[in-house]
Amino acid sequence: MFSAFPEGPPALALSIYVYLTDTSDVNRKVNPDQCALRSVMESRLGWPPGTTGHQSAQVKTIFSCPENAPEARELGSMVLEALGRSNLFMSAVLPKQVFPPLFNRYDAGMTFGAHVDNSIRSHASGVRIRTDVSSTLFISNPEDYDGGELVVEDTYGTHSVKLPAGDMIVYPATSLHNVTPITRGSRIASFFWTQSMIRDESKRSLLFDMDMAIIKLARDHPQHPSAVELTSVYHNLLRQWAEV
Ligand code: NI
Repeated sequence: MFSAFPEGPPALALSIYVYLTDTSDVNRKVNPDQCALRSVMESRLGWPPGTTGHQSAQVKTIFSCPENAPEARELGSMVLEALGRSNLFMSAVLPKQVFPPLFNRYDAGMTFGAHVDNSIRSHASGVRIRTDVSSTLFISNPEDYDGGELVVEDTYGTHSVKLPAGDMIVYPATSLHNVTPITRGSRIASFFWTQSMIRDESKRSLLFDMDMAIIKLARDHPQHPSAVELTSVYHNLLRQWAEV
């Protein structure tokens, strides 16, 4: 049986950037941990024989690892496990269900035009979710390719994102976005969607801001009674709004 990790999967720590439309602070990198993601994934994601090129009016042939390929499943499990350990992901996304991570590769000349992701996604494994939050996990080192920026547009403007290997950005799935053409090298990434317990992105963003403020308050003034009060308000709002 295929195993990407004969010696056992390495612990993966993701640095996650949170991008929510109604915060001015676009890139919040809270977890500075780095990981050896690229060397692990790029070398072992074998682009198996079933790898398909996807072609549409907006897309110039991207290589996609089949959803059910053992490589995708095993590497995807590693990503999910890392997400489960990320307080930042939990706070920002408030996940109800995460779609099994997918993997793709853009070579020189490939691009993905402006689009909004499908609202409902079905995975070969039977998982079916409403896509509230999109995630892109950069696997290739940015020095190894030119172009390939993820460009996300919203009412606050256009944001271009190209992160170090192992860093991930989450953004509302309602956003118009594109991937600029690759002009050198290859861009390998994992991407997936999450159905959030909080469907409304403005409510999700409010809860995230509040959680971050509570964390700062508890850090700077550990004994302050308002920390408990604000935490109570946070949970009571979550109780009102969450679909579980
Ligand atoms: Ni997309």
